[in-house]
Amino acid sequence: MRVGVVGCGHVGLVTAAALAHLGHEVAATDSDLEKLALLSEGGVPFFEPGLPELVAEGAAAGRLTFVPETADVVRDREVVFICVGTPPREDGEANLVAVERVARAIARAATGPLVVVEKSTVPVGTAERVRRTLARERPEIAFEVASNPEFLREGRAVRDALEPDRILVGAETETARAALRALYEPLTCAGRRLIETDIATAELAKHACNAFLATKVSFVNALARICERAGADVRSVAEVMGTDPRIGPEFLEAGLGWGGYCFPKDLAAFARLAEDLGYPFPLLQEVARINDEAVEAAFERVRDALWNLEDKRVTLLGLAFKPGTDDVRFSPALALAERLLAAGATVVGYDPQATAAAKAELPAMQVCEDPYDAADGAHCAVVCTAWGEIRSLDLGRLREVMRYPILVDGRNALDAEAAIAAGFTYLPLGRPTLVSRQGT
Ligand code: UGA
Repeated sequence: MRVGVVGCGHVGLVTAAALAHLGHEVAATDSDLEKLALLSEGGVPFFEPGLPELVAEGAAAGRLTFVPETADVVRDREVVFICVGTPPREDGEANLVAVERVARAIARAATGPLVVVEKSTVPVGTAERVRRTLARERPEIAFEVASNPEFLREGRAVRDALEPDRILVGAETETARAALRALYEPLTCAGRRLIETDIATAELAKHACNAFLATKVSFVNALARICERAGADVRSVAEVMGTDPRIGPEFLEAGLGWGGYCFPKDLAAFARLAEDLGYPFPLLQEVARINDEAVEAAFERVRDALWNLEDKRVTLLGLAFKPGTDDVRFSPALALAERLLAAGATVVGYDPQATAAAKAELPAMQVCEDPYDAADGAHCAVVCTAWGEIRSLDLGRLREVMRYPILVDGRNALDAEAAIAAGFTYLPLGRPTLVSRQGT
């Protein structure tokens, strides 16, 4: 099929490349012309394993092109995806200005019947707004609107796009449903599940999934605070919980909490939406509060271990909001860095991929290219992101370069015995502190 994609962020670019891989002819655009130039030269503007190869494959096959004008991804196309950002406003509401602008641009450029698919995460009711906008701008064109929320995770987005747990299509006409069935046929033929609903259900389901996952993580983090007080081990409690198939083992890792560009903004937008619909949902605010508290718990661990933070050097190991990405937006690591800086500490960070992004986001923090350089002379190191490289650090070497042997494990990612053997006082979250014989 001939497909257009507006917006080349994480969702748009992965969608465009995946659809080209499935055999469709895809043209994609973005309002950021520098990003488009980079994409046209074969570059990918963010770190996502497997994506450069997928983009290169589509470009080489002539099935994936990047063009500067929205009109060029609309004209003579059968399906156009809206994948633009929906950033949070001050009060948490999703800012849908870009969505409306793109809807108007699509309407102006349309040359014939067109299925317009909303893939950005949006509040329920947005597709209806898009439909009205399209109809007002060009009443003579037969537009169909559908919602096709994306469930891909940063760091494994390519796999999630090509081997999705489910494909969700919200549509209300047979034309729209048929277009999306045809689009995803290579995946459904391979046994992937397609769930068809009405539009409002699809829009709401996306927010519900992210809010529920964030709730699961906050639940285990609240449990971590209780375990700390009770002398229990949150990892063991979570393991027991996870063996109950009704609960499941995933998203029960206690630590610094959730971040990234999806959970924080989607939770806030969902809470705002619920309130607007006349059903305030305070559980969601509580989930966010517990998440902030997780960073505070790590901060308290550091402060308690170091006494005064002025004149102290703290190393943060991992800065991205999770492993597998260079994304530092709403990263708990940076929230902790800000907290430590405000308390007077010198903060030095290290991340395998997010050096540039972290420097840009928080210039007051030093960022090193090597973990041992980052830890040189530090009074305390905090594991903030559970990258494989950080899990397998040489703890003996880390201990040697540091001034004090204090290791806070904000992701419960290290082997406690190995930390103790290396001479560290090991302070995990939600689990008892372990003091080495040489430790303080
Ligand atoms: C999330 C969802 O998982 C995707 O399904 C969804 O498509 C995406 O948002 C989106 O809306 O675009 P993502 O933001 O990439 O994906 O990150 P996750 O893998 O879900 O992790 C979110 C955060 O929770 C991370 O900061 C992670 O470190 C944290 N987390 C996760 C925990 O602290 N503990 C856990 O047990 C699991």
